[in-house]
Amino acid sequence: MARQDELHARSLAAPREFWEEAASGIEWFRRWEQVCDEARAPFLRWFAGGVTNTCHNALDRHVTAGRGAQPAVIYDSAMTGVVRVLSYQELYDEVARFAGALVGLGVGRGDRVLIYMPIVPEAVVAMLACARLGAIHSVVFGGFAARELATRIDDARPKVVLSASCGLEPGRVIAYGPLLEAALARTAFSPQHIVVLQRPEHTQPLHGDRMLDWRRVAAAAEPVGCTPVAATDPLYVLYTSGTTGKPKGVVRDHGGHAVALTWSLRSVYGMQPGETFWAASDIGWVVGHSYIVYAPLLLGCTTILYEGKPVGTPDAGAYWRVASRHDVKVLFTAPTAMRAIRREDPDGHFFAQSSPRTLRALFLAGERADPDTVEWAQRTLGVPVIDHWWQTETGWPIAANCLGLELLPVKPGSPTRPVPGYDVRILDDDGGELPSGSSGHVVLRLPLPPGTLTTLWNDDEGFIRSYLSRFPGYYATGDGGYFDADGYLWVMGRTDDVINVAGHRLSTGAIEEVLSRHPDVAECAVIGVADALKGQVPLGLVVSKREVVRTPAELAEELVRSVREEIGPVAAFKRVLVVERLPKTRSGKILRGTLRRMADAAPWAAPPTIEDPAALAEMGEILRSAGFDVVAATGEAAAENLPEAPGSRTA
Ligand code: COA
Ligand code: AMP
Repeated sequence: MARQDELHARSLAAPREFWEEAASGIEWFRRWEQVCDEARAPFLRWFAGGVTNTCHNALDRHVTAGRGAQPAVIYDSAMTGVVRVLSYQELYDEVARFAGALVGLGVGRGDRVLIYMPIVPEAVVAMLACARLGAIHSVVFGGFAARELATRIDDARPKVVLSASCGLEPGRVIAYGPLLEAALARTAFSPQHIVVLQRPEHTQPLHGDRMLDWRRVAAAAEPVGCTPVAATDPLYVLYTSGTTGKPKGVVRDHGGHAVALTWSLRSVYGMQPGETFWAASDIGWVVGHSYIVYAPLLLGCTTILYEGKPVGTPDAGAYWRVASRHDVKVLFTAPTAMRAIRREDPDGHFFAQSSPRTLRALFLAGERADPDTVEWAQRTLGVPVIDHWWQTETGWPIAANCLGLELLPVKPGSPTRPVPGYDVRILDDDGGELPSGSSGHVVLRLPLPPGTLTTLWNDDEGFIRSYLSRFPGYYATGDGGYFDADGYLWVMGRTDDVINVAGHRLSTGAIEEVLSRHPDVAECAVIGVADALKGQVPLGLVVSKREVVRTPAELAEELVRSVREEIGPVAAFKRVLVVERLPKTRSGKILRGTLRRMADAAPWAAPPTIEDPAALAEMGEILRSAGFDVVAATGEAAAENLPEAPGSRTA
């Protein structure tokens, strides 16, 4: 039996023993009383009674153990050309002092601090400083605009907002001040302080008493030690897109999270303390939280903060130069980044030029990795390319090829097998378990392992409603897929209205909310359609009101602008079709799944519940004339909410 399967079986048969052993990977101020307290199930309390602190485990203990001179964070900015190395000792000093600054602003255990910053070392300092105090950080991705920011501020009610004067995107400087101001103009809640990191590329004017300069505040502060916190205390809230316009605040604890991440970096990614790990993502996403910041530092590794893109900053060799310059052992990015590099450098000349000789593996996640891209990357890099599957809610991989245990044969397109801790099952619409080869809902049998979400912020009921009520006894991942005969999992796509655009998770519901607020819009639907670079991009289908003055082109242009201004450029919402009507079921539900299949040139058929088959035929024509390769209607209708049947079951 492969080591991964052996540990997987052990972790399910005796989860308490398994995770108790893993808990020795971090330091505790007081040992737990119960490995897992299920008294309030389904709300689990891993390591209940234990006292620890994530910042202590990420910094203090490594400095004490003699790792002070080792680089902790290497900031490498393709946007500015700056490379800055912070050793564990330097990062510790900055974090302890900035935590002191936060104390001076009245921040303490349990208070929320919202971080709206680009990928700069101070953002990591901010996250760790919150952890040090037992304050709860909530990082908002810089590509989100006012509306998204406002919703998060109102939900998290942060005492302090930490921001920067600007972010840098190719060809433009993004001033954060006006975005934050626009967000605060719509919130009911008002933070007490806003601390701004001034960057040389753009200076933000600071108005009134509540806006403070980061460096001044930090310089005036005294360093503070770690606040011992309960293992079950919240470490952070990270909002993620659900099916509605309201994002879900995923809550992560200190103890279980630190144990699971430390274990995963060794066992899944095969890292050892002292080595360099690079997750080429952003701190605003879960990948950034788990594998730019927490896991590498918890294990005593060096982590890279890369500010730039895989291509265009300035070319498709950027990743390979960074990997080579800093002796990166393992690189983690989204498949879309590989597609972008391949498009510019199909023969891998840039890779050959830099030849990062220390690179052991490339991990891909964030969206489905298409076999073609995996095969290209494998050929070009000459190292294992490992697709792995997880989500914001779980915080660490659910299915992977665990490099740190034993590399299993790679099947491009499959994230391999379940990772120890996760009991993955496939269910049909009625909750019946499906055999291998049959596609259905991918679910996780309860209990979930440590490090996964403990609840949704201020919304225990929402946690149950969103994840646990559809299939009692299971956590619904929102993904569809199947197991093949070798026990490999294939995750084929979402079963809900969440889409993945360039590895960024977005809610079509949130975009629809923005569209429906336009005075000319009577009705709308947003679907994710296949895109060769970004995986998926949103497409708006809009029915306008009867008496409107705008032409369809003007309406489309205004809608594109509103989504960019309200949700942010990262939604990549560029296309709207103004149509006469939308095809629906007799109960009034828009046939989004069928429309998506039509736009993606997949087989489709009118479902038996359709209200008016002519409306669907009409949409087929509209999509065709808009350039989509709609195939003729075929066979039986697929389940509206399940991804297509397997393309390759035994690859
Ligand atoms: N702040 C402000 N704007 C941002 C931003 C940020 N932090 N991040 C992205 N944007 C903007 C971009 O400038 C772009 O604007 P534009 O419409 O004016 O061009 C838009 O949002 C879309 O950005 P992006 O998704 O990055 O697309 P792109 O076309 O600029 O680049 C890729 C395409 C494939 C190179 C890019 O998506 C990429 O690097 N993807 C990697 C994905 C990743 O790291 N995912 C995280 C999960 S692992
Ligand atoms: P996020 O919460 O932003 O990490 O997005 C998680 C979602 O991205 C998952 O629920 C999947 O739909 C998708 N996803 C992430 N990784 C993979 C993968 N390796 N294969 C298929 N889908 C993936």
